[in-house]
Amino acid sequence: MSYPYQIKSLEQYKAAYNKSVVDPEGFWGDIAGNFFWRKRWDKVLEWNFKDPSVKWFLGGKMNITENCLDRHLGSLGNKPAIIWEPNDPEEHHRILTYRELHTKVIQFANVLKNNGVKKGDRVCIYMGMVPELAIAVLACARIGAIHSVIFGGFSAQSIADRIMDASADFVITCDGAYRGNKEIPLKNVIDDALIQCRFVKKVIVLTRTRTPVSMIKGRDVWWEDEIKKVETMGNPDCPAEEMDSEDPLFILYTSGSTGKPKGVVHSCAGYMVYTNYTFVNTFQYTPGDIHFCTADIGWITGHSYIVYGPLSAGATTLLFEGVPTWPDAGRFWEIVDKYRVNVLYTAPTAIRSLMGFGLGPVHGKQLDSLKVLGTVGEPINEEAWHWYDENIGKGRCPIVDTWWQTETGGVLISNMAGVTPSKPSFATLPMPGIQPVLVDEKGEEILGNDVSGNLCIRFPWPSIIRTTYGDHERCRTNYFATYENMYFTGDGCYRDAEGNYRITGRVDDVLNVSGHRIGTAEVENAINMHAGVVESAVVGYPHEIKGQGIYCFVIYQGTHGDENLSRQDITQTVSRLIGPIAKPDKIQFVSGLPKTRSGKIMRRILRKIAEGELDQLGDTSTLLDPGVVDEIRAGRL
Ligand code: PRX
Repeated sequence: MSYPYQIKSLEQYKAAYNKSVVDPEGFWGDIAGNFFWRKRWDKVLEWNFKDPSVKWFLGGKMNITENCLDRHLGSLGNKPAIIWEPNDPEEHHRILTYRELHTKVIQFANVLKNNGVKKGDRVCIYMGMVPELAIAVLACARIGAIHSVIFGGFSAQSIADRIMDASADFVITCDGAYRGNKEIPLKNVIDDALIQCRFVKKVIVLTRTRTPVSMIKGRDVWWEDEIKKVETMGNPDCPAEEMDSEDPLFILYTSGSTGKPKGVVHSCAGYMVYTNYTFVNTFQYTPGDIHFCTADIGWITGHSYIVYGPLSAGATTLLFEGVPTWPDAGRFWEIVDKYRVNVLYTAPTAIRSLMGFGLGPVHGKQLDSLKVLGTVGEPINEEAWHWYDENIGKGRCPIVDTWWQTETGGVLISNMAGVTPSKPSFATLPMPGIQPVLVDEKGEEILGNDVSGNLCIRFPWPSIIRTTYGDHERCRTNYFATYENMYFTGDGCYRDAEGNYRITGRVDDVLNVSGHRIGTAEVENAINMHAGVVESAVVGYPHEIKGQGIYCFVIYQGTHGDENLSRQDITQTVSRLIGPIAKPDKIQFVSGLPKTRSGKIMRRILRKIAEGELDQLGDTSTLLDPGVVDEIRAGRL
């Protein structure tokens, strides 16, 4: 596999960037020409951000799995596609070559068909990090079914909400999942979710943990039994469904500033082209390299840089079932040495948490196979950047700080490893094709350098969000209505004197907790469901390891007097309704919330209190009851 579009020098980057702006259609058309198309596109791009309507490679026919699998069989058939490292280091790892992965995807695609799944159907996938998760994702894509992967840390209620929103008739899950010393009973969680989703026709259950599970006759089937059925039919092929470029490939739910998560929809061709392009360029992937992205496939990072980006590039992608701190905090480094990993892509929160264990777990590890390090998901503080650089990269490995979002499908702003300069805590420069703009509150563009503003993008790129599932208007109002003719990212940003971008964090009511996006309104809704809670307000505060922690101000008139017990109960409610990832870090009981005369909660003040900036509360004179601020300030946790 060669990548003629891989950029190798700063000059080439500048030339590519320039071409991508002057002639975007020519630029992306050339890159798309490197993929396998059943039918070439008629037109590269049609767009407006008003509706919004963005279409790439119009009239093209293709299937992403032919690009991720079939086209590699000739030259890479016996090369590893997926290396799987199990949770327990004592358990045997697995390696799937491209040929084996192809066979397994085809088998499972036939299982899906046998169970009634058709093109366009939505399939919810709730599994641990096992190779079958990637196989399930690819099998859906093979037959044109739209996958909606849900991260294992979400509760039954969250799953039910997502299954209902997408009207997913099919679910793929595991009996359970191993994560560190925990065993998570996934099928039981699904059963709880499905009490509300009677319309679900089939649940396919993979055996992983042998956790006892209930299997409902007519609805629930075992993955292994279904594979056997396919095998007894001989080894039938499963020709890839011919997809239109703009057919949806998947839905992935993410939090916004309103209560309900949105189903971000990505389409087939643009997503394929852009994730491949950014994979090859950001990480400077060289054939034969082992790429280890530590994210979960339940998030966009896993979709784009564990599954689709690497596989479409014929890369070897490492899939790790466990957690960085089990059996000890040297696990990542052990994996790097075990497989001689070349590219390590992880989150600042993981780096900070591992830093906390000191250098003991790093000692004795070679780490000499590493060539490139990457981070994603949240701003990386300089201390963590330098620790990563010195102790893991040994000063030899460029660090790529990749800024992007679920909605963007792939990396938008990042340095390219060893090709364009890095700068600690800066994502640096836009990828070719990406035109960032900083705007002020009024929507005026802020020109020049050494300036800050809200980050927007002025021109579409191939993997931009197409819609929010079932509610296009929501897509418009969330991303395309704040500033005219621009995609609004929701992030604040600083552009330095040289034009490097530094993402400073969300400017909306979205928290970033350990790299997980959580809407404050979602957490408030959950807290407000708790008996005795009158009202609540949730804000973020700086947290040493998580980046942001969840600080809740709660008016509570519950009956039992033990505050700590009440806190635990409220936490339990949040965990039940959203999932353990949204558990509050701090709950402060208050008698009132600072409100304007029109009844709006002044979050700015609460944020300052939570952040401990007690002398910077600003003007509180417009509050309905300024006295409440003193009380809250005095009771700060
Ligand atoms: O605030 C930005 C932050 O994560 C948000 C997107 O979250 P999500 O859709 O879950 O996707 C995460 C993985 C791509 C962004 O709006 N973010 C992501 N990457 C960075 C970042 N903040 C600073 N630096 C980054 N490299």
